[in-house]
Amino acid sequence: MKKKLLSGILSAVMTASLLVGCGGAAPAASTEAPASEPAATEAPAATESAGGSGKVGVAMPTKDLQRWNQDGANMEEQLKAAGYEVDLQYASNDIATQVSQIENMISSGAQVLVIASIDGDSLGTVLAQAKEAGIKVIAYDRLIMNSDAVSYYATFDNYMVGTKQGEYIKQQLDLDNAAGPFNLEIFTGDPGDNNARFFYGGAIDVLKPYIDSGKLVVKSGQVDFDNVATANWSTENAQSRMDAIISANYADGTKIDAVLCSNDSTALGVTNSLEANYTGDWPIITGQDCDVANVKNMIAGKQSMSIFKDTRTLAAKTVEMVDAIMKGTDAPVNDTKTYDNGTGVIPSFLCEPVFADVNNYKELLIDSGYYTEDQLK
Ligand code: BGC
Repeated sequence: MKKKLLSGILSAVMTASLLVGCGGAAPAASTEAPASEPAATEAPAATESAGGSGKVGVAMPTKDLQRWNQDGANMEEQLKAAGYEVDLQYASNDIATQVSQIENMISSGAQVLVIASIDGDSLGTVLAQAKEAGIKVIAYDRLIMNSDAVSYYATFDNYMVGTKQGEYIKQQLDLDNAAGPFNLEIFTGDPGDNNARFFYGGAIDVLKPYIDSGKLVVKSGQVDFDNVATANWSTENAQSRMDAIISANYADGTKIDAVLCSNDSTALGVTNSLEANYTGDWPIITGQDCDVANVKNMIAGKQSMSIFKDTRTLAAKTVEMVDAIMKGTDAPVNDTKTYDNGTGVIPSFLCEPVFADVNNYKELLIDSGYYTEDQLK
């Protein structure tokens, strides 16, 4: 009976995964959420254990960014629905806090750890302890580097996120046909987050030929990853860097044609800076996550696009992985060559990121129950 329930839940979750993101089609789930809270997963509530048993530690980086709250809530709800006990922790973007939270999870009997790392390189020692204790580790969204304790990686196709952002700028500026030159500035993420290099890499692979040919001009001269990284993905850091770029290069109203921002928190900083300091025509601005503030900016014409990564789908895929590990079977993966963490390639499941803009956000975000209409007012 319990087995039947679990397979029912898993197949519902798998169907949702196929429909949302991982299968590439439009999301079909429907969830109501209170206006102030991000919508959580559609998975059934855990009124009775659904076949799984044991404890899962879920370590999230921070509550500061909307998406991690959604990720944590979705993981907790879906794991509980599948019958597992959950220890969910947020580390305020502080590496030492995350390490000690993971130590506590190990000592309190977690059998699987699901970790969205703050700094992918800082968990080697604590994960060696996990391995020693026979605890399996799933890297969630961000790859954990240089640790052979990592069994699986569940994420979105991070390179594709960057490609979609770069392609968008290419199409909007019609780089193959228009005379140009066009002014571009670039903002990516935290150097300790392996994803940031994939986002940057995907976008720069599209845009670099046009920078090299002079059709795209980066007046700040800041193009290399290290020069365009944003510590902690922080909105404030992006904003102050954009303030400096504007005052040095665009103070006279020279047009900025596009700003490549790897995610929504950096896009928000750039937008804030433009609003305060810039007098030229509004540039194309990219983003990622479809955070509420950024969707509002898209609706208001201040941000051009974002990338929708349905955190319900990623949670569902990760719960499938946990379940397979707990039962001693192989977890679902669809990529066994892209993500080498320094100890070898980590078998991965890559969900598909979806392009979002003012024309499709209703279908993607409201019809799918990700947000309510009121949240975006
Ligand atoms: C995630 C992005 C997020 C960024 C900042 C990345 O690892 O993949 O979705 O915007 O971290 O939290």
